[in-house]
Amino acid sequence: MFWTVQIALLICILMLFYLLSWFWPPDSPWAPWWTTNKEVARVMCRLVKMKKGDVMYDLGSGEGDALIVAAKEFGATGVGIEIDPLRVWQSNFKIKQSKLQDKILIIKKNFFQVDLSNATVVFAYLVPKALKNLKNKFLTELKPGARVVCYRYTIDYLPLIAEDKEQKIYIYEIPKKSNKKIVVSSKGKQKRVNKKRDL
Ligand SMILES: C[S@@+](CC[C@H](N)C(=O)[O-])C[C@H]1O[C@@H](n2cnc3c(N)ncnc32)[C@H](O)[C@@H]1O
Repeated sequence: MFWTVQIALLICILMLFYLLSWFWPPDSPWAPWWTTNKEVARVMCRLVKMKKGDVMYDLGSGEGDALIVAAKEFGATGVGIEIDPLRVWQSNFKIKQSKLQDKILIIKKNFFQVDLSNATVVFAYLVPKALKNLKNKFLTELKPGARVVCYRYTIDYLPLIAEDKEQKIYIYEIPKKSNKKIVVSSKGKQKRVNKKRDL
């Protein structure tokens, strides 16, 4: 009897956390359990022109479905960064089932602490606050020409190059090289200054 009550209580608590996860902002430990369905992931891959050779980073990779579609159907390699151990476990399970272990790596970490410079495509299904906080990271770490895909929420600090309004998919690009460079101050302000010329 004692154990039945304990187990029932535990199940109730877990269910409560699951429900809470739908309402909490995704940069909290109880991030929403919202996922990108495979059909949306396909539209996103087509719109961003995902191809073999692309390295897709999914910031907050959840259950890994978007990475699986990009690797399996479009030939990309993927890196998922996920803070929630349960979702890391779930995504690794799905990746193993799809036999994509050699194409997708899931890192259990806070994505603010992971270097993004190898990415050619970054996927971010995150709330506006998290997207805003990623500004410096995108501007300083991503290579010119790298694309940033936002789902549902937009950003205003990168040029928009494609969108699917119906599906709410927005593609941005890190500006190509110019004789100017972007310098980000400690307060997060952006300034374009002339690059020094090599002698
Ligand atoms: C809205 S879900 C998107 C999941 C997945 N990208 C998809 O589209 O199916 C956001 C995910 O970001 C994760 N997350 C939020 N903040 C994070 C952080 N700072 N570092 C790593 N993961 C984070 C959450 O745990 C959650 O799984």
